[in-house]
Amino acid sequence: MKNFFLFASALCTFLGLSAQEITSPDGKLKMNFSVDSAGCPTYSLSYCGKVVIAPSHLGYQLKPEDPTKMTDFDWKTPAAAENAVVRRADLQTGFNVETTENATHDEVWTPVWGEESSIRNNYNELLVHLSQAKNERKMDIRFRLFNDGLGFRYEFPDQKNLTYFTIKEEKTEFALNGDHKAWWIAGDYDTQEYEWQTTRLSEIAGRMKEAVAPNSSQTPAGPACVQTSLQMKTDDGLYINLHEAACIDYATMHLDYDQTNNCFTSHLTPSASGDKGDLQTPTTSPWRTVIVGDEATDILASRITLNLNEPCQIEDTSWIHPTKYIGVWWEMITGKSTWSYTDAVSSVKLGVTDYDKVKPNGRHGATTEHVKDYIDFAAEHGFSEVLVEGWNVGWEDWFGHQKDYVFDFVTPYPDFDLKYLNDYAHSKGVKLMMHHETSASIRNYERHLDAAYTMMNEYGYDAVKQGYVGDICPRGEHHYSQWLNNHYLYTIKEAAKHHIMVNAHEATRPTGICRTWPNWIGNESARGTEYESFGGNPVNHTTILPFTRFIGGPMDYTPGIFVMDLSKWVPGNTSKVRSTLARQLALYVTLYSPLQMAADIIEHYKEKMDAFQFIKDVPCDWDKSLYLEAEPGEYIVTARKAKGADEWYIGCSAAETGHTTDIALDFLTPGKTYTATIYADAKGTTWYNNPEGYVITTRKVTNKTVLKKLQAASGGGFAISIK
Ligand code: NOJ
Ligand code: CA
Repeated sequence: MKNFFLFASALCTFLGLSAQEITSPDGKLKMNFSVDSAGCPTYSLSYCGKVVIAPSHLGYQLKPEDPTKMTDFDWKTPAAAENAVVRRADLQTGFNVETTENATHDEVWTPVWGEESSIRNNYNELLVHLSQAKNERKMDIRFRLFNDGLGFRYEFPDQKNLTYFTIKEEKTEFALNGDHKAWWIAGDYDTQEYEWQTTRLSEIAGRMKEAVAPNSSQTPAGPACVQTSLQMKTDDGLYINLHEAACIDYATMHLDYDQTNNCFTSHLTPSASGDKGDLQTPTTSPWRTVIVGDEATDILASRITLNLNEPCQIEDTSWIHPTKYIGVWWEMITGKSTWSYTDAVSSVKLGVTDYDKVKPNGRHGATTEHVKDYIDFAAEHGFSEVLVEGWNVGWEDWFGHQKDYVFDFVTPYPDFDLKYLNDYAHSKGVKLMMHHETSASIRNYERHLDAAYTMMNEYGYDAVKQGYVGDICPRGEHHYSQWLNNHYLYTIKEAAKHHIMVNAHEATRPTGICRTWPNWIGNESARGTEYESFGGNPVNHTTILPFTRFIGGPMDYTPGIFVMDLSKWVPGNTSKVRSTLARQLALYVTLYSPLQMAADIIEHYKEKMDAFQFIKDVPCDWDKSLYLEAEPGEYIVTARKAKGADEWYIGCSAAETGHTTDIALDFLTPGKTYTATIYADAKGTTWYNNPEGYVITTRKVTNKTVLKKLQAASGGGFAISIK
C-alpha cells in the first residue's frame, strides 16, 4: 500500500489537479483523491502509513427514463429526447477534475447538551469540482479530514442537465485491506432491533441467517448486507468505524459486502417505488464517515458525526433540558399490565366505540390512581418527568394491520384523568411525558400532529416519546426510506415550534441531527432494555452499542432494572435480565443519553433505596467525558464530570469475562478531598448467579488516589459517584 501513496503523489505531479492529497491536522491521516482512467472518482485513506480504505470508487447509478412513461414534453424534439437521456445517465465515469479548493477549519462550539460542554471541530478540507464532459454535468465531492477520521459527501450544484433525478443506487465503496474483525447487524430497511454479530468480514454472508433469527420474520436486505454504524478492528490493532452523518432528505445507507474484492458498497433503503431516492439540485448527500483510531477509546471519543451536522437551528433553546424520568412502562412491556383499557379487541374501534360502555380488563396500567403514585415517587426522588404509555384510546387494535387510522393522540381512556393528573404533577414540580405510538401509520400521525402538540401545550407536556412499531402505512414504504426520514425530521421541526422535546423509538438510526435540532433528545433504533423481557439481550450487548448505535447519537436504552428474574413479579414471564444490578447502574455512565429512564417499577426501587441512590445522583448532562478503557464486546470504563458541578461519575460495564482494573483519579481537582461511593457486584455475583447482589462502600479520595482492583463480574459492572 505504501507504494500506492508514492504512486499517488507522483501522479499528482504529472496530472496536476486529477490527483490530490490532504492530511488531518495532526498529520496522522492521509486521504488521496484521484480520477481513474475511466474517469471514476477514487479515494483512499491511511493512518500513520497503515491502510484504512484502499482505493475505492465514488459515484451514482441513476434511474434511466422509461421511454413508455416519458411525457410529450420529453420527446418533443430529438434534442429534448437526447437531453432526457443525458439527464439520467449515471454519475460514475467520464469525470474530469475542473478545479479544487482547500480549506482549514478550527472552531469550538457549545452543544445544548452533551458528553462535554464544548466540542472542537477541526479539519482540513478538499472540495473537488468534477465535470462529466459528455453529458455537460457537474458533481462536487467535499472531503473533511479530522484527527479522528474522514467525512465526505457528494454535492450537486444547480445546472441545466441535472435538475430532478432518481437514484438507482449510490455506489460509494469502502475497500478494505484485511479480513477484519467486525461487529455488525443484518441489513434491514425497517429495524435495528437485532443482536450484534462478531465475526470476520469473510464470515458475514455465512452468518446472515443466524443474524436475523431473533426477528425471523425479517428478510435481510441482501446476502451480505449490514447496517451502519459498523465497527471493525484490523489485525494490527486499528479500529475503523463506518457510518453516516446528517442523513436529511435522503434514504438511510446500508453496506453490501463483496468478499472477492474485500469491499463494502453503499446500499440505500428503497422507497415504495423501489427507487433509492428522488433529488433536486442544488442538493447534497449525507456525509459518509470513516472514524479511525489505534485505541478503541478513540472511537468513543470521536465527535465526527456531530461535527458534520449543521449548527443548532433553534434560537431560544432554554426550554430544552436533559431529563431523568420514570414511567408506567416496564409493567406493560413485561406483561404485568396492559396498554389497552379492555381486552375486547374485535368490538372496539377508534371513533366508534363508546369506551365508557365497554368492560375494562382490570389490568390497564395508565389509571389515574397508579399514575399519581408515580408522580409522588418522582417528586420525592427528584425525577423531572413521568412517562405514561397506554393513556389514549386505540390500544385494543394498534398493531399489525397497517391501518391508516389508529390513534387520535388526544382522547384519553375513561380511567385516565388528563387534566387532573397534569395539574397534580405540576403542583409537585413534575411533568407528565406524552406518548405517541404511531403504529407506523405515518399519514395518520401527520394528520393529527398539530392538534396533538397543541393539546400537549395546553396541558403542560414538554416531551413526547414516539413509537413506530410495525410495517409502514402507506404500504411499501420503509422505516429508513427517504420519505420516512423526511417525516421524522418534520415531526421534530413541528415539535420545536411547540417547544416539545422528542424521543423517537423504532425510527431510523440517528446521524447526529440532534446537533441541529437539539429537541431531538432521544432515539431508540436498537435493541433496548425491552428485549430483556422478551428473552434477554446478549451479555455483551451494552459493550458493543457505544461503538455502533451510539456513533449516530444518544439512545433511550432505559436501564435501571433491579429485579432480574421477571417471573418473580410477572406471572408467565420467564425472561431473565442478563446483567447484574451494579451493571444496570453503570449503564447510566457508559451509555450516554440526555434522556435517562429509571425503567423498573417503583416498588423495586423502594426495596433497594441504597442502590437507587446512584440513579438519583447521576446526571445526564456533562462537562467532560473520559473513556478510560474499552474493547468492543468486552468492557467499557467511562468517567464523566457533571455539568456545572465538581462531581464525577464512573461506570464500568463488562461482558462474559468480566473486567478488573485500577483507576487513577488524577482527573480530580488537585488539593480537594471527595467522597467516593462505589456500587459493585457482590462476591459470587454474576449475571447468571445472584445478579442482584451488590455491595456499596464509601471512601475519601483525592486526585492522587488510585482505586485498585475494581472488579466487574461476568455480565457485571461497577458504578462510582465522586462528590
Ligand atoms: C416499542 C417501544 O420501544 C416501547 O418502548 C413501547 O413501549 C412500545 N413500542 C409501545 O409503544
Ligand atoms: Ca422498540
